[in-house]
Amino acid sequence: MFEHVEPFAGDPILSLNEDFQKDSRPHRINLSIGIYFDDAGRIPVLDSVRRAEAKVVARNAPKPYLPIEGAANFREQVQALLFGAGHEALAGKRVATIQSVGSSGGLKVGADFIARWLPGSEVWVSDPSWENHRSMFEGAGLAVHSYPYYDPATGALSFEAMCDALRRIPAKSVVLIHACCHNPTGVDLSTAQWDALIPLLAERELLPYLDLAYQGFGTGLAEDAYAVRALAAARGKDGRPMSFAVANSFSKSMSLYGERCGALSVVCADAGEAVNVLGQLKFTVRRNYSSPPIHGGQIVAAVLGEPELRTAWEAELAAMRERIKAMRKVLHATLTAKMPARDFGYFLSQQGMFSYTGLDPRQVDRLREEFAVYLVRSGRLCVAGLNSGNVEATGLAMAAVLDG
Ligand code: LMR
Repeated sequence: MFEHVEPFAGDPILSLNEDFQKDSRPHRINLSIGIYFDDAGRIPVLDSVRRAEAKVVARNAPKPYLPIEGAANFREQVQALLFGAGHEALAGKRVATIQSVGSSGGLKVGADFIARWLPGSEVWVSDPSWENHRSMFEGAGLAVHSYPYYDPATGALSFEAMCDALRRIPAKSVVLIHACCHNPTGVDLSTAQWDALIPLLAERELLPYLDLAYQGFGTGLAEDAYAVRALAAARGKDGRPMSFAVANSFSKSMSLYGERCGALSVVCADAGEAVNVLGQLKFTVRRNYSSPPIHGGQIVAAVLGEPELRTAWEAELAAMRERIKAMRKVLHATLTAKMPARDFGYFLSQQGMFSYTGLDPRQVDRLREEFAVYLVRSGRLCVAGLNSGNVEATGLAMAAVLDG
């Protein structure tokens, strides 16, 4: 029956993380997977999250199946976090939100929905993009292409080339864009660039699909949701409110990776459309995994909804963000001291958990084999894995392979 089944080639990120766990060299450094580690190299349990979980457990509540679309309190809090409480799109009931199994689950439900209701639409992802994006949309039966995004020569955004490409793709194409803290490059659109891009997307009748996995790791919670809020306020070519989708996650921002807490929100032109879209998202979920898990979402709802926990969480999130920025500075200084002729300014201008180092796969392999420093083979470095005990060693190892 299964003789013909081929071996799995492994995942470029998750398999590397497994290899790291098996590496017995004591000085090994994990800068591969997108996980925030604290300065002691541990995955933190945020105090706000720990207290919220204690409250959830103390309720000793039964654990029924959640509704297909998830818990109402979670969904309301997510909407307020993304759009800002009282946003016209929320007041007008134009947003269909489901609780999802991480933002990956949300992205996939949205991809299945697109495959069914926008047949013929194809998907454009940035070049480069998160390794799993292409596979996820192809897995939903959609053709995937890429648009220019990152300029290796400057380490910055190729905004003109991106816009030129998007001007030429067919109407109703899906354009996947990181709302902030681009994975893998750390290169983001400025607010002025969003303001220029959104009318282009509207005029060309394209469907923006935002991936917001790192809200709060760039500049701040509201600032990092700029694209969501600007799109929600925009009008399409027909003068009606613009339609788009956004998948968001609490894996990183609440350090709740394994709880798989995320959401998918589809913003529609009016409340009637949103009712139907929500219904079809529910249909998609029901035929996949029926309904989302209950525990993590209740922790998230408590953190977001209880003012004292919310304030504490925002402070903890800001501390994570600032620690990453501090590590960027140390890595930049270490490399610049070693190789003064080379410009490492991109470490300071890129934001969020990741930096694209420009190291080629051969150099990345050398880093891992000779120095036990793990980066994704694309050259992506997870800055959130650096700490005061490993950042210098990382800089010196990178300088060694860049030199050789
Ligand atoms: C990453 O990009 O490393 C993370 O988002 C984890 C993953 O699922 O790939």
